[in-house]
Amino acid sequence: MNLRRYLKGKWPLLYIYRKLYYAPKDVPAALGFIFHGTKSPTTFGQRLGLVAAFYKISYRVDCPHAEHELIAIGRQILDLGAGVPGAIVEAGSFHGGSTTKLSLVAKLCDRPLHVFDSFEGMPENREAHGKSIYGREHHFPKGSHAVGLDEVRGNVAKYGDVSRTEFHKGFFSDTMPHFREPVAAACVNVDLVQSTRDCFHYLYPLLSPGGIIVSQDAHFPWIIALLRDDAFWRDELGLSRRPEIPGLGTLKFVTVRK
Ligand SMILES: C[S@@+](CC[C@H](N)C(=O)[O-])C[C@H]1O[C@@H](n2cnc3c(N)ncnc32)[C@H](O)[C@@H]1O
Repeated sequence: MNLRRYLKGKWPLLYIYRKLYYAPKDVPAALGFIFHGTKSPTTFGQRLGLVAAFYKISYRVDCPHAEHELIAIGRQILDLGAGVPGAIVEAGSFHGGSTTKLSLVAKLCDRPLHVFDSFEGMPENREAHGKSIYGREHHFPKGSHAVGLDEVRGNVAKYGDVSRTEFHKGFFSDTMPHFREPVAAACVNVDLVQSTRDCFHYLYPLLSPGGIIVSQDAHFPWIIALLRDDAFWRDELGLSRRPEIPGLGTLKFVTVRK
């Protein structure tokens, strides 16, 4: 029997399983972060405290990501420094585990955090999904991953910094066209091709030079195909060439730097 499926809903056993399963990646990421300074100045104590907070948040809020992902993303954001002005944006919050963690990163580098989600799950879509590059099946019908705004805001208020977090409720194609602030970093975790397309379409032009968009969906062949599509970069973003995306095709999360 598949152990992960057997442990579904059995807390804290599932939490312990996840921490042991991902320890070979999580522990080096945590140590690498704690023992290295960042461009936005942080102390050893702050970095240690952030990692401890991440583990606590994952215990309290069901997080579909592994610890090393958010540690690596947090580290990249803290390494942008003052030379890359702008807000942090999250697209796709689910229960708000990643949102809560990003709010603490935002606090450390004194940036606002803007969170975009329908808070009603996936939009209507006819996308054909299937196996990730790791061989697991994934399907995202309308309404899947639905978690209400009150629950997400409550989690950020309890375990993060809600004072610097602004929520934008609605489908990206409705909310993002009204957003105009400079962006230093955007974290996109939205599963669908159309949603990823919308995020890049509206957020890439707002990125400050040196800013980053991280996709946490790069283990899905349909997202890899989109990010490898020269026509997407040329026709939708007006770039003469597709940017370098290190690890595309082999990693779960990839970074596009402007
Ligand atoms: C995988 S979950 C995000 C997980 C979260 N980042 C974490 O690590 O805890 C994907 C989220 O994207 C949202 N989403 C996907 N497409 C969307 C769209 N077009 N507009 C608004 N929200 C969308 C869903 O509602 C869902 O909350």
